[in-house]
Amino acid sequence: MACLKFAFKALCLSLLFVTVTSRPATRLQVFNVQNYGAKGDGTTDNTNAFTNAWRDACASNGLGRMYIPKGKFYVGGVTFEGPCNGQTSFVIDGTLLAPTNNNDIKKETWINFRYIDYLTISGGGTIDGQGKESWPLNDCDKDSHCPNLAMNMGFDFVNKSSIEGITSLNSKGGHLNFYYVDNFSIAGVNITAPGDSPNTDGIKIAFSSNIKISNTHIGTGDDCIAILSGNTNFDINKVTCGPGHGISVGSLGRYKEEKNVENLTVRDTVFTGTSDGIRIKTWESSVIAIVISNFVFENIHMIDVENPIIIDQKYCPHPPCQNMGESHVQIEDVTLKNIWGTSMNKMAVQLQCSKSVPCKNIHLVDINLTHNGTDATALCENVEGSASRNMVPSNCLN
Ligand SMILES: *[C@@H]1O[C@H](CO)[C@@H](O)[C@H](O)[C@H]1NC(C)=O
Ligand SMILES: *[C@@H]1O[C@H](CO)[C@@H](O)[C@H](O)[C@H]1NC(C)=O
Ligand SMILES: *[C@@H]1O[C@H](CO)[C@@H](O)[C@H](O)[C@H]1NC(C)=O
Ligand SMILES: *[C@@H]1O[C@H](CO)[C@@H](O)[C@H](O)[C@H]1NC(C)=O
Ligand SMILES: *[C@@H]1O[C@H](CO)[C@@H](O)[C@H](O)[C@H]1NC(C)=O
Ligand SMILES: *[C@@H]1O[C@H](CO)[C@@H](O)[C@H](O)[C@H]1NC(C)=O
Repeated sequence: MACLKFAFKALCLSLLFVTVTSRPATRLQVFNVQNYGAKGDGTTDNTNAFTNAWRDACASNGLGRMYIPKGKFYVGGVTFEGPCNGQTSFVIDGTLLAPTNNNDIKKETWINFRYIDYLTISGGGTIDGQGKESWPLNDCDKDSHCPNLAMNMGFDFVNKSSIEGITSLNSKGGHLNFYYVDNFSIAGVNITAPGDSPNTDGIKIAFSSNIKISNTHIGTGDDCIAILSGNTNFDINKVTCGPGHGISVGSLGRYKEEKNVENLTVRDTVFTGTSDGIRIKTWESSVIAIVISNFVFENIHMIDVENPIIIDQKYCPHPPCQNMGESHVQIEDVTLKNIWGTSMNKMAVQLQCSKSVPCKNIHLVDINLTHNGTDATALCENVEGSASRNMVPSNCLN
């Protein structure tokens, strides 16, 4: 009996101990950048204040929150690195302003997050890359040694994390870049740059898995979303894209280190005035045999899109391409379902697959694309699959 009593007491004590010691682990601790000397006057360089606020938020034994209040906060190139002690949030209510001169960023990415789990970025604020001045420096069409213009925000090895509600404006290079990221949600984000700003990709992702993109608007001068090598299990829905180059898988096949791209769903999406809608591109003279498989594109509205549906396995933006061989990238198990609207080109569906590894299992279901009030046309080369239900342009997959 006494023993039981004692055991009970010990249990109580240990429970008490657990509750007392665990309490700080769930309490929100806010690290306002203004308490680190940051000034929202648009000109003070706040790079050190931001770095110091992050260091404390990340080290905080609980829910550490770095907070940027309303105001215009000028920050240079900055890296926010983990691992952090607990879950870390980054709340932006104000505007972050990048240096206008690309050389003042001194990094590939203006705002970079690395090696972090359980990071949430949110708020109604804006990250403004102030790219206008540096866009004319982009002459990559003519010169392969063109300057690398900084991307607005990057995530490297960041897992179980999210970004919500932020606006990314006028990046110098791409807007949001993801590299080796797992289980990440992008929701309610607005990505904007002029349609003629060069290489301002909206979301660029490689070697990542379990990515969700939803309720997001992207209008830029390059791909709305670029899905590169090594990506698996993506769910993209309720995205509006335009201006821009559409949602693009690739280009792939150019580098030996590339990995397969598998399991991609894009649904309930609208493309407005883009050069491409759904695009898969692989290099004409690919050096590697990888597989692109298990994609579904469903419920997609095209409004005045130049090339609504395009598989291009002869991608060679600056000819001539090295060996001019066939692409060895296999494309298989792709369903395109319920896609309708208007095409700027007469040819609305172009499936140009590789002669050496033809596309397999490509299924078109309920497609209705028109060109200037008439039926559009389709081109199919080296494709095996089917077309069913409504099919305008009349199919070439029978
Ligand atoms: C994905 O991340 C969320 C946090 O954003 C977490 O709650 C969830 O457990 C993660 N899922 C997996 C399978 O890791
Ligand atoms: C995050 O995920 C990436 C990709 O799956 C993995 O390479 C990396 O080790 C993970 N990092 C952590 C800290 O778990
Ligand atoms: C996105 O942000 C831009 C710039 O702030 C704004 O003009 C536009 O209305 C926003 N679009 C959406 C869909 O929120
Ligand atoms: C792709 O999805 C299938 C199920 O639809 C699953 O079996 C497979 O493991 C997934 N691939 C990857 C790389 O996660
Ligand atoms: C295709 O769309 C056009 C224009 O919206 C419409 O008039 C036509 O009936 C549709 N055709 C089919 C087969 O659904
Ligand atoms: C669209 O069609 C009308 C006739 O129906 C024609 O006069 C006009 O030139 C066409 N426009 C384009 C851009 O093809």
